[in-house]
Amino acid sequence: MASILYGLLPDVIGELRVQLPNLDVRLTEISSGDQNRALKAGEIDVGFGRFLSSESFIKQILLRHERLVVALPMNHQLTKKSNISFKSLNDEMLILYHRTPILLSTGQEFDPLLHLFYERHLIPKNTQKVRDMQIALGLVSAGEGVTIVPISLKGIHQEKITYLPLSPDNATSPIYLNTLLDNQNPNITTLLKSIQTVYEKKGIIQTNPLLINL
Ligand code: BEZ
Repeated sequence: MASILYGLLPDVIGELRVQLPNLDVRLTEISSGDQNRALKAGEIDVGFGRFLSSESFIKQILLRHERLVVALPMNHQLTKKSNISFKSLNDEMLILYHRTPILLSTGQEFDPLLHLFYERHLIPKNTQKVRDMQIALGLVSAGEGVTIVPISLKGIHQEKITYLPLSPDNATSPIYLNTLLDNQNPNITTLLKSIQTVYEKKGIIQTNPLLINL
């Protein structure tokens, strides 16, 4: 997923290459929705994503929660504030970009960004859907609307976009490592240790005991 690439993935791969210099690491872009199929088909050993899987053959490890920020065009009136509430975004043109909807236990499907508003009893008045997060940020930089992204994307179009914290909500997006439930590959343990090392170096507080107890 593109949003993972802008985060700590390069650091994690660098650390893994230190731990296992002879390991052949290949990266490929596969949407969240397609990762389960690619894992099952043996096309990939590990996937990273932001959504819970309902497939019984998939093992997911929650790595961390990443903060979400609002992306506003540079000259937008809301940039005068130091942080933004979801309510203050309700009348804006909200640019949606997720390809995979959230599937709730009730069986209902929702766009992940719209779901953030619904959870807060809000219904955005104007929305526009685009193919991916980069296009959404391109439209924000052109002054066409606003969107919400993980904080690791705040370097994109920095000269034309103001990224502000969403407050007081502290809304976050999870990052999961996905493998097959019966995966016995010992390199995955080394990968998890590499992630742990990167988090320690970056001062990221680790809340998942599965990672701490490796
Ligand atoms: C992270 O940003 O926490 C992350 C991204 C990719 C792999 C592992 C961790």
